[in-house]
Amino acid sequence: MFSASAPAKIILFGEHAVVYGQPAIAVPVSSLRARAEVQPNAGEGLRIIAGDLGEVIPVTVGADMVDSALFRTAQLVLQAAGAAVLPDVTITLSSDIPMASGLGSGAAVTTALARGLLAALGVTLSVDELNQLVYRVEQIYHGTPSGVDNTVIVYEQPVYFVRGESLEMLSVAQPMTFVIADTGEASPTRFAVADVRRLYDQQPEQIGSVIAEIGSLARMARQALETDGDLSLLGQLMNQNHALLQQLTVSSERLDRLVEAARKAGAFGAKLSGGGRGGNMIALCQPDNHQQIEAALKACGAKQTYSMSLGVAV
Ligand code: PMV
Repeated sequence: MFSASAPAKIILFGEHAVVYGQPAIAVPVSSLRARAEVQPNAGEGLRIIAGDLGEVIPVTVGADMVDSALFRTAQLVLQAAGAAVLPDVTITLSSDIPMASGLGSGAAVTTALARGLLAALGVTLSVDELNQLVYRVEQIYHGTPSGVDNTVIVYEQPVYFVRGESLEMLSVAQPMTFVIADTGEASPTRFAVADVRRLYDQQPEQIGSVIAEIGSLARMARQALETDGDLSLLGQLMNQNHALLQQLTVSSERLDRLVEAARKAGAFGAKLSGGGRGGNMIALCQPDNHQQIEAALKACGAKQTYSMSLGVAV
């Protein structure tokens, strides 16, 4: 038996605007992972057991279940590997990552499954090939994904991502600590993305300028992250990004309350992260006040909180 895995992710700047060609900054959350355990099963064929989803999928050549993201993953891996014969393995999936909450659970499960199946087939893909494959599966979950989620998850590195441009990794000048809090409200990203598109079509100038402003914030944030690590500036940029996301109508009462609670408890800044309307928010704090901020967020109704650092362990 062996296993493969992939991390969660969080978007620091630029969600939604990234769909329209603006930059986004995203980082992996390596402590939260999706896993694929691969076990030989002596003649049962390829079986995928999605523990958390309660799904058991026997995969057969030629079967048509393209709406199942797991099945589609297996199909794409088998195609990429040129495998004519399916391996006799059972792949059991599990994940620490809450679903539909902006932490990239779909892309992480896809990546872990693809890695497990590739290993079972004895085939290696380049990181970029795997990234393309996961992107194609993301299209089932998201419709028109920008590609930021699969990229940060497959590379497991902080990224500065611009749709259609070559990928840039980001180096962080100063260690920093973030707190992530889950509203407990599941919110499929595709609906929020579709609503922003409708809004953009109705008011292209106004919404276009909000999107461009989000892009400017992401560019400034990159500078601050890479050169001087100015935490109070980064916090302000996060606050401004949150206000612009409110204008795109993707925040929610609960997200706004948690963002406010984090700021009051001493965070440099806070914003929703991911598709919004629920899911998670993120706050930038000092290593020595993350517990205080987590406590404030829990007191304000956060279902779960996590802390993570860029650069050093918390
Ligand atoms: O999967 P989420 O909820 O983190 O959202 C991804 C970020 C969006 O910009 C909202 C959508 C996209 O495709 O980039």
